[in-house]
Amino acid sequence: MQIVDQQIFLEEVPVTQIAATYGTPTYVYEENRIRENFRRALRAFRKYYPDFRFFYAIKANNNLAIANILRQEGAGIDAASVNEILLAQKLGLGGNDVMFSGNFLSDDDIQQGLKSGVIFNLDDISLLPRVLRYGRPDLLAFRVNPGYGQSEVGDFVCNAGPGAKFGLHPDHVLDAYRQAKEAGVTRFGAHMMPGSCVRDPEYFRFITELVMDIIGKAAKELEINFEFVDLGGGLGIPYKHEDHVLDIEKAAELVAEVFKSKIAQYGMKPPQLMMEPARYFVGDAGYIVGTVHAIKDSYSRIIGTDVSMNTLARPAMYGSYHHIYVNGRENEERIPLGLCGQVCENTDYWVKDRPLPKGITLGDLIVIENAGAYGYSMSYQYNGRLRPAEVLVNGKEHYLIRERENIDDLVRNVFVPEHLRK
Ligand SMILES: Cc1ncc(COP(=O)(O)O)c(C=O)c1O
Repeated sequence: MQIVDQQIFLEEVPVTQIAATYGTPTYVYEENRIRENFRRALRAFRKYYPDFRFFYAIKANNNLAIANILRQEGAGIDAASVNEILLAQKLGLGGNDVMFSGNFLSDDDIQQGLKSGVIFNLDDISLLPRVLRYGRPDLLAFRVNPGYGQSEVGDFVCNAGPGAKFGLHPDHVLDAYRQAKEAGVTRFGAHMMPGSCVRDPEYFRFITELVMDIIGKAAKELEINFEFVDLGGGLGIPYKHEDHVLDIEKAAELVAEVFKSKIAQYGMKPPQLMMEPARYFVGDAGYIVGTVHAIKDSYSRIIGTDVSMNTLARPAMYGSYHHIYVNGRENEERIPLGLCGQVCENTDYWVKDRPLPKGITLGDLIVIENAGAYGYSMSYQYNGRLRPAEVLVNGKEHYLIRERENIDDLVRNVFVPEHLRK
């Protein structure tokens, strides 16, 4: 993003042009920012541990244009469901380029996952006999819940620790790999996902130590090799302007240091080190361009925009913060204002007492920052408000990468029985 004479540009495309061409609300992604984010992180981790690979957690933003950027950069795909495996296949990825980390799988999920031939990452020991009933994965991992989780985006997004539904209890890990070995599995990996949006490098060292102590013992006792260890996602970005950025270089250095020392301690054959972030790659590359449509002076002044909770769910779901710019007014005096969307829920009144430009008025364009991850992919149709368009910008070029929904999308797959039509 750049602001020139108070006019906001995403890469080199004015937001006025985005609004005029595609309407609002519209998600806009900066292609070069995604590439820079990916390359910065990959450079850091490969510097300290050359056998390193990223898988992109496609759940955060599943537009195939965005996922293809990350594929071009060399990422594999972390799939949370069978449909995400199918999305990966649409990118031309399968086999060991895709990891299936579903949880509480149905038999159908298991069968489809096996058929796809991707890496199976089991969320619990109870899944193993159910998987083996249908086949034996070539390469099998277990998701470990190391008993500790951390989140800078609220407790709702804490993916490990005693309160989380994910992963194997550490006491079950040895048994899980033993059972898999006895069933004839020969290739193993290990996985965990304890953190969300963490900007403290020390956290990444700490969780690496935790998981290596758990799986190192299994490697030694069962005499198995781990081909990879996946530390999950969780590389954080600052949502508030006063927050610091993650020192990715330091995180990589600390992780590699403890990883290598634990490999030596447990006499392990060095596994590939993997991570599967999403927010770090796409979070700050995405924006929502919206319009001010109504202003109410009641108990306080509330600015009404077309960016509702159905378009950006995070504030209503998690109370999360997103910075807001107002095109043409960035140099204006600010006063505390409220801002909301158009959905009939008070959680849609998602900005309260925020310093916003005093002169904000009807027709102004707002730009919401850090919307590239868990933005569109969490959007929905409540109140008959349809999902927005998505646009990719690269330099002066802009490309529609998903059409705005229309009324046909609202009634698609709906059937009205004959007796209700009279
Ligand atoms: C299993 C798994 N891997 C990776 C990710 C990506 O996390 P992040 O966007 O914090 O990097 C998530 C997010 O919830 C996840 O559940």
